Amino acid sequence: MAKNVGILAVDIYFPPTFVQQEALEAHDGASKGKYTIGLGQDCMAFCTEVEDVISMSLTAVTSLLDKYNIDPKQIGRLEVGSETVIDKSKSIKTFLMQIFEKFGNTDIEGVDSTNACYGGTAALFNCVNWVESSSWDGRYGLVVCTDSAVYAEGPARPTGGAAAIAILVGPDAPIAFESKFRGSHMSHAYDFYKPNLASEYPVVDGKLSQTCYLMALDSCYKHFCAKYEKFEGKQFSISDAEYFVFHSPYNKLVQKSFARLVFNDFVRNASSIDETAKEKLAPFSNLSGDESYQNRDLEKVSQQVAKPLYDAKVKPTTLIPKQVGNMYTASLYAAFASLLHSKHTELAGKRVTLFSYGSGLTATMFSLRLHEGQHPFSLSNIASVMNVAGKLKARHELPPEKFVDIMKLMEHRYGAKDFVTSKDCSLLASGTYYLTEVDSLYRRFYAQKAVGNTVENGLLANGH
Ligand SMILES: CC(C)(COP(=O)(O)OP(=O)(O)OC[C@H]1O[C@@H](n2cnc3c(N)ncnc32)[C@H](O)[C@@H]1OP(=O)(O)O)[C@@H](O)C(=O)NCCC(=O)NCCS
Repeated sequence: MAKNVGILAVDIYFPPTFVQQEALEAHDGASKGKYTIGLGQDCMAFCTEVEDVISMSLTAVTSLLDKYNIDPKQIGRLEVGSETVIDKSKSIKTFLMQIFEKFGNTDIEGVDSTNACYGGTAALFNCVNWVESSSWDGRYGLVVCTDSAVYAEGPARPTGGAAAIAILVGPDAPIAFESKFRGSHMSHAYDFYKPNLASEYPVVDGKLSQTCYLMALDSCYKHFCAKYEKFEGKQFSISDAEYFVFHSPYNKLVQKSFARLVFNDFVRNASSIDETAKEKLAPFSNLSGDESYQNRDLEKVSQQVAKPLYDAKVKPTTLIPKQVGNMYTASLYAAFASLLHSKHTELAGKRVTLFSYGSGLTATMFSLRLHEGQHPFSLSNIASVMNVAGKLKARHELPPEKFVDIMKLMEHRYGAKDFVTSKDCSLLASGTYYLTEVDSLYRRFYAQKAVGNTVENGLLANGH
């Protein structure tokens, strides 16, 4: 059986176009600080009319194969997580097969997984389980999380974003799954869903989704701790993981979530809670579960108590989600990519705990153990390939008016046929895929911006 199965390599793509949350606040007539402090977000990336979940995933997969020098014939399973519906039958995975067919590889299992923001985690578990199983044929698994998060005008709109992330799975990984330590919570809720198939926008009950998220977190943590105690024979507390990574619809919810884990540890009388924290949280010890979700004082006090630990254990995971926004299935893994980016030199030997949540609802808390690994599958090489700082720096800020215009055009184009795009790829980096046309039979066509052309101030530098 394969050992230390997990993540060998990662690459991330997000659109180069974004809007500042501060500018959006002013444009929307929201009070100053509502999006930046209230939601905790800095910027929001979005696809223009030449990008979508398929083009972003084509870009992410091609880039990963190229930068880690992976022979496309060496991929034996390809799984996609997405909640952005382009086609009710044809999977995004089949679009990605264009990359592999060219090399004569059509022997690739796997299709798409969908349940709100959880589909990527389901896809990742499928790949890890495959490599650990008797059906494994010795080749790599590849997971792609790709989503464009867009909302109708209103309070949820600033919690959008877009990205694709590609994750290579195999044995002897620098980022290995501790598969025994997993706790899930799945139930039926109408917190966020997409029943209107003529629209890309979800129906969302924002407040309910926040409570569902926190209830699922509590339940997963309980199951996770029980599994840990069963296999390790001792209590788990937040001191037992170096970092905690959360699915991040907006940063404020991540702050609340970590505070909730601290409160859980307090209720469980875990060793991570010192005397001062115990005193501060004592007035809330008799609240029922339901009361505790609605209690604003508890929310405030637990966030204060958790702040130093949040800064140490969570803040290094927040860069990309704050800069790009909610990326749905890619959001958790973009938070993990932020950790690799900012702390890759210190992660060897450390445990990282992740919490995946998808409305509707499905959630799992799981655990990874990190090692430096060997080139090209090393933590330092993953950080260097992802080039997060470089990609963030190369972006182009657009004004909110332009963002709104693009949203209107995309509403019109959603589910439409018989159109060609502007094919304007001047803002895209070389090697990026873009949508050129949807024909009269709804068939979608993509092109790749030539490698070698560099973008400078929105103009191609090689004379085009
Ligand atoms: C998150 C969401 C519910 C916020 O909606 P809203 O109507 O703007 O909510 P609020 O008015 O409560 O404001 C949000 C926060 O900003 C704070 N705020 C408001 N104005 C502010 C200001 N000027 N300065 C600082 N903070 C401000 C509020 O106090 C609130 O903070 P709190 O959560 O700590 O109480 C909405 O954006 C949404 O539905 N998003 C999508 C749903 C989602 O992603 N769910 C997650 C599950 S996956």
